[in-house]
Amino acid sequence: MARIVISEFMDERAVGQLSSLHEVLYEPKLVDDPARLLDAAAACDALIVRNRTQVRGELVAALGRCRVLGRLGVGLDNIDVGACEARGMQVIPATGANALSVAEYVIAASMLLLRGAFASTASMAQGGWPRTALGNGRETAGKTLGIIGFGSIGRTVARLARGLGMEVIAFDAVMDAGDAAFSTAGAAFAGLDELVRRSDVVTLHVPLVDSTRGLFNAPRIAAMKKGAVLINTSRGHIVDAMAVAAALKSGALGGAAIDVFDVEPLPASPVFEDCPNLVLTPHVSGVTAESNERVSFLIANKVLEALR
Ligand SMILES: NC(=O)c1ccc[n+]([C@@H]2O[C@H](COP(=O)([O-])OP(=O)(O)OC[C@H]3O[C@@H](n4cnc5c(N)ncnc54)[C@H](O)[C@@H]3O)[C@@H](O)[C@H]2O)c1
Repeated sequence: MARIVISEFMDERAVGQLSSLHEVLYEPKLVDDPARLLDAAAACDALIVRNRTQVRGELVAALGRCRVLGRLGVGLDNIDVGACEARGMQVIPATGANALSVAEYVIAASMLLLRGAFASTASMAQGGWPRTALGNGRETAGKTLGIIGFGSIGRTVARLARGLGMEVIAFDAVMDAGDAAFSTAGAAFAGLDELVRRSDVVTLHVPLVDSTRGLFNAPRIAAMKKGAVLINTSRGHIVDAMAVAAALKSGALGGAAIDVFDVEPLPASPVFEDCPNLVLTPHVSGVTAESNERVSFLIANKVLEALR
């Protein structure tokens, strides 16, 4: 019987599947107690984390007998994968399992921000009738959606957007224009600069790595079409959120949705307070009841397989 430590939240039934075969320590708040986490890590054969547990340095050193590291999600920027693999650990992400949740968030944000007609509740409750102000929203069909990063999530976004009648263009740093994945998903390849210039909505689906850090800085945002919408569900540090706020206030950008931040939780940020047509969400685009179940069972099964 192996010992499995789970340091962040996981679907309870998937935890049950693991504990029917192995000894499991499941503490969703263990990530907030570094000393206890280090103790638990030293005695485990498998560690399961979400995105808050930083698996690097001292923690990797403590994982002396650990054979497998399960990641309840996709991005591996909280894990020193090289150091884990050098110690013989298998690192397993839940690739694809939350793609639909993120893609639906992107579509909902695109429609909401292009239309701009859903923020009248407070004014109407006070007797307002802002029909003229809200009557200039844009339809989604026929607009150009630019997808940066054409992996699991990017392709799912493309499929849903095509269903709405959007024109989809996409860029991926490691795929060439002739890659069949573009035509299969109904997207046309575009270079990065062209995509930024042409898109009514730009959405990012790249990992946080050296080549994507600062990818959407102030000059790149300034190169977007006037009034375009920017959606970032990928990672903080990829988009300069301060530059987004400035572009919304100047009217250069027509809307933005930001789900991921340089520092999470996001500290109080008055800069966002008066931004028009801005949606901020607390890193939830990939987290739904359904995706939590899919992600948790996928990782539970793969960890069990690796321990066999
Ligand atoms: N906010 C959330 O809840 C949430 C949930 C899931 C994933 N994510 C983030 O979304 C990212 C993408 O997820 P995925 O499942 O689609 O990953 P994926 O690995 O399937 O696809 C990522 C794609 O990005 C491409 N890419 C890498 N560097 C690039 C660059 N410099 N320019 C353009 N393309 C580049 C890769 O070639 C790959 O095709 C994850 O790395 C993660 O950070 C966030």
